[in-house]
Amino acid sequence: MASDDAPANLVNLAARLAREAGDLVANGRRTGNLGARTKSTATDMVTRWDSASESLIVEALRVTRPHDGIVGEEGARFAGTSGIDWYIDPIDGTTNFLYGLGGYAVSIAAADSSGPLVGAVFVPESRELFTATRGRGAFLGSTPIRCSTSMTLDTALVATGFSYDSERRRIQGARVGALLPHVRDIRRLGAAAIDLCHVACGRVDAYFEEHLQSWDLAAGLLIATEAGARSSDFAGGEVRPSETVVCAPGIHSALIEHLQPTS
Ligand code: IPD
Ligand code: CA
Ligand code: CA
Repeated sequence: MASDDAPANLVNLAARLAREAGDLVANGRRTGNLGARTKSTATDMVTRWDSASESLIVEALRVTRPHDGIVGEEGARFAGTSGIDWYIDPIDGTTNFLYGLGGYAVSIAAADSSGPLVGAVFVPESRELFTATRGRGAFLGSTPIRCSTSMTLDTALVATGFSYDSERRRIQGARVGALLPHVRDIRRLGAAAIDLCHVACGRVDAYFEEHLQSWDLAAGLLIATEAGARSSDFAGGEVRPSETVVCAPGIHSALIEHLQPTS
């Protein structure tokens, strides 16, 4: 491994860029000039600040890590040769951002052939920076974090999210409806990366969602699992963006019992 590829260097880079992009979008939000337009559906929005955030991150990575691959939600695609690929969600929680709610974040992960290697999620409005390095734990700022020790699903606080596609939302709503009698309560906070960080630090006991993308999941998944959370798909197989469950280990089997597979 080249010394520049040391995980400590990669996580510091991810954290620095997440902070810089987060400051850019938070300041942009305050100008009121959002430049909002629709993407896949009438409710799937993108703003000029999503694009500006991705540009800032990608331009910096192209200079400092020219041989790495890049996948960004707003269209950045570079095939790499180094074995390191970056996954960027330049604003996760764009609906919150648009409405002036604080629950949005910049999410950046670097992955190698074994999966996510480092991750950083920065929440500009709370100034919280979550980071993790594979095999070396997860942190909120400089403080190590652990997921909850919950053992009982019926007292678990469970976060989830919904797609922008109306038919998918009908199925997701039915799934949440079936789970609701078996848990303490449900939270739909509006940013997958933050939901995963909330699992990591015990602010919720569990999170599940389907139809995510690689950039929604990569950083937050590493942060949550490095904090002790268990991950899988809805059937208990390997976690994937299309079916994601991340929770306190003590409630995993009870939770997936109530999540029917989608396919
Ligand atoms: C969305 C958020 C939301 C989740 C959606 C994502 P975006 O990402 O993470 O919480 O429920 O599935 O698409 O569009 O705000 O980057
Ligand atoms: Ca997202
Ligand atoms: Ca986004």
